[in-house]
Amino acid sequence: MIASLQPSKTKRILSGVQPSGKLHLGNYFGAVKQHVEMQHEGQAFFFIADYHALTTLQDANALRECVRDVALDYLALGLDPNIAIFFRQSDVPQVTELAWILSTVTNMGLLERAVSYKDKVEKGLEASVGLFTYPVLMAADILIYRSHLVPVGKDQVQHLEMTRDIAIKFNRAYKEVFPEPQPYVPKQESRAKVPGTDGQKMSKSYGNTIDMFAEGKPLEKSVMGIKTDSTPMGQPLDPDKDTVFALYSLFATEEEKAALAADYRAGKIGYGGAKKFLKAKIESHFAPFRDKRKELARDPKTVDDILRAGAAKASAEAEATMALVRMATGLR
Ligand code: ADP
Ligand code: TRP
Repeated sequence: MIASLQPSKTKRILSGVQPSGKLHLGNYFGAVKQHVEMQHEGQAFFFIADYHALTTLQDANALRECVRDVALDYLALGLDPNIAIFFRQSDVPQVTELAWILSTVTNMGLLERAVSYKDKVEKGLEASVGLFTYPVLMAADILIYRSHLVPVGKDQVQHLEMTRDIAIKFNRAYKEVFPEPQPYVPKQESRAKVPGTDGQKMSKSYGNTIDMFAEGKPLEKSVMGIKTDSTPMGQPLDPDKDTVFALYSLFATEEEKAALAADYRAGKIGYGGAKKFLKAKIESHFAPFRDKRKELARDPKTVDDILRAGAAKASAEAEATMALVRMATGLR
């Protein structure tokens, strides 16, 4: 293990996703799809952020179920546990030790500026200390594996800026332990901020999601519930201002997009028709993953074993970093 104390020369890619509900199309295009694609581009670490989920989910069975669901989602979508290190955040509890140490070099003002914290409080979430210091734990997640690149949706970029700030503060106060991680945001704006059924950013906490693995009636209900304007049938529609078209575009080829846009502008299609196209796209896109997911769900032991093996590898890396941190701070 001592051998891995040297900063790694391989690019390290890391990201986490909170197990606080079923994963939705925003999570897929903004995060999970990139994660699966990027697993070949360096040493990848992907984890299920169950410590973070405690800030919003206080139901033990629901948490366990959500963790299992997210694990199944990732594995079904093609995350290869032989290539990427895939684990559950709380299986590497050293991250909470690092979070404490980092909190001592983090300014209150930095956390007070966090948009996601302010948003959540505005939406009525009670402001616990954990919710407030959420970005410090996220910084610890990233820094404990001395990560270089963090693929996330646009809403997480501020957390990455805070992480860099905290890393710089630590490195300056003690010694250069942490690289300064960079966010990797999908270039296409449409993927970095996928709209929900009400046209706002799709998010579990806004109740406007379309679940990735929904099918049949529940999928139909979500898609048919997408808010549109009240232009009557037969009138031209503006594809650039429509959520159904925006979502369809995420799945369609350039030709398919152009064809639907032309029908919108010519008044040849109404929102109901467009929604049927969208539903068919979602269904066919996820069909092969859905089959794989069902197969994995029948074998919970394999999924547990994968997470446990991932945690063992992640722990070794975390311990190596913590040895440097404890030495640098005088805790050893
Ligand atoms: P939620 O907002 O539903 O709680 P999370 O905060 O758990 O989602 O996000 C998990 C990942 O998915 C993050 O990297 C986040 O940036 C990304 N993400 C979430 N919602 C969207 C969205 N509507 N568009 C693009 N990316 C998103
Ligand atoms: N805060 C992230 C989100 O809501 C989840 C997360 C926790 C994360 N720790 C992380 C993402 C570290 C990237 C890196 O999506």
